Amino acid sequence: MSLPRTVKIVEVGPRDGLQNEKQLVPAAVKVELIERLADAGLPAVEATSFVSPKWVPQMGDNTEVFKAIRKKEGVAYPVLAPNLKGFDAAVEAGATEVAVFGAASEAFSQKNINCSVAESIKRFEPVVCAALALDMKVRGYVSCVVGCPYEGAVAPQKVAEVAQRLFEMGCYEVSLGDTIGVGNPASVQRMIEACARHVPMAKLAGHYHDTYGMAVANVYASLQLGMRVFDSSVAGLGGCPYAAGASGNVATEDVVYLLNGLGIDTGIDMDKLLDAGQFILKHLGREPAAKSARALLAKRGAACP
Ligand code: HMG
Ligand code: MG
Repeated sequence: MSLPRTVKIVEVGPRDGLQNEKQLVPAAVKVELIERLADAGLPAVEATSFVSPKWVPQMGDNTEVFKAIRKKEGVAYPVLAPNLKGFDAAVEAGATEVAVFGAASEAFSQKNINCSVAESIKRFEPVVCAALALDMKVRGYVSCVVGCPYEGAVAPQKVAEVAQRLFEMGCYEVSLGDTIGVGNPASVQRMIEACARHVPMAKLAGHYHDTYGMAVANVYASLQLGMRVFDSSVAGLGGCPYAAGASGNVATEDVVYLLNGLGIDTGIDMDKLLDAGQFILKHLGREPAAKSARALLAKRGAACP
């Protein structure tokens, strides 16, 4: 299959990237990060999650953060909403796009959202209905699409079943999450092929964590099957509080570097993206994890004595 001319990147750093940070990041820092990412050309910036603050304290400032963002025309700011309580709070804060998040593994579903996969689907139905009634868009996530931290390998067919339920329920796109980053191009392609038998490829997105350093390879493998939307996290931040040992998402910088090299347009300004990464890394007191970011920053430093 020939490669596309454009690819959409959904930036998940402010949510997936920060949700696992032990130290509470001030709301003002989150807001500035979101605004910098939108200014860098990201067409969608997942801003926060309306989940229980007892489960994920870092996202407890969801309303404050969402309301404070200077929204840029044409940019989507989706937020996670696991149930009607979260959905109502998201609407109250002004959200116009929400995401429900299920899993292909029973054990992960229990640990992450305290219910079975079947119960989660029942719980999402009224959320999707309420959102569609308000003309809001709903994205769906399936976690553990290759492996589960508690159950091990996950069958592609199980992923396809959950993806199909979310799509038929009304999700405009289903993001396939390799939550613990165990996938490789072969296992990820098998999983996508199974999903694409039930959900159109144009409605699938790849959400790859980089635990084993395979995430960029998995993006490339997915592109070859016709996938056109990828989630990524600035500076490679991230992890899931309920998936011990999982590392961050594929770094947005690495994905943009890959796509630029392939001649695929993302609309993203790499310099501004690097600045956004430096901004949050400075706050967290960390060095860039993304190799492309390290190399490009070193080059920039060398050019500006
Ligand atoms: P629960 O304890 O079963 O909920 O949690 P409950 O309905 O029994 O309610 C218990 C308490 O929570 C009550 O408060 C509710 O009001 C409150 P209390 O009476 O005890 O004071 N509550 C809420 N508060 C705020 N917002 C809400 C909400 N709902 C109930 N929305 C629940 C169920 C889903 C809420 C909980 O398990 C939860 O919040 N889980 C979220 C976990 C999470 O955020 N995980 C990370 C995101 S998923 C991810 O990272 C994967 C992804 O990136 C893709 C990938 O990589 O694979 C998307
Ligand atoms: Mg994730």
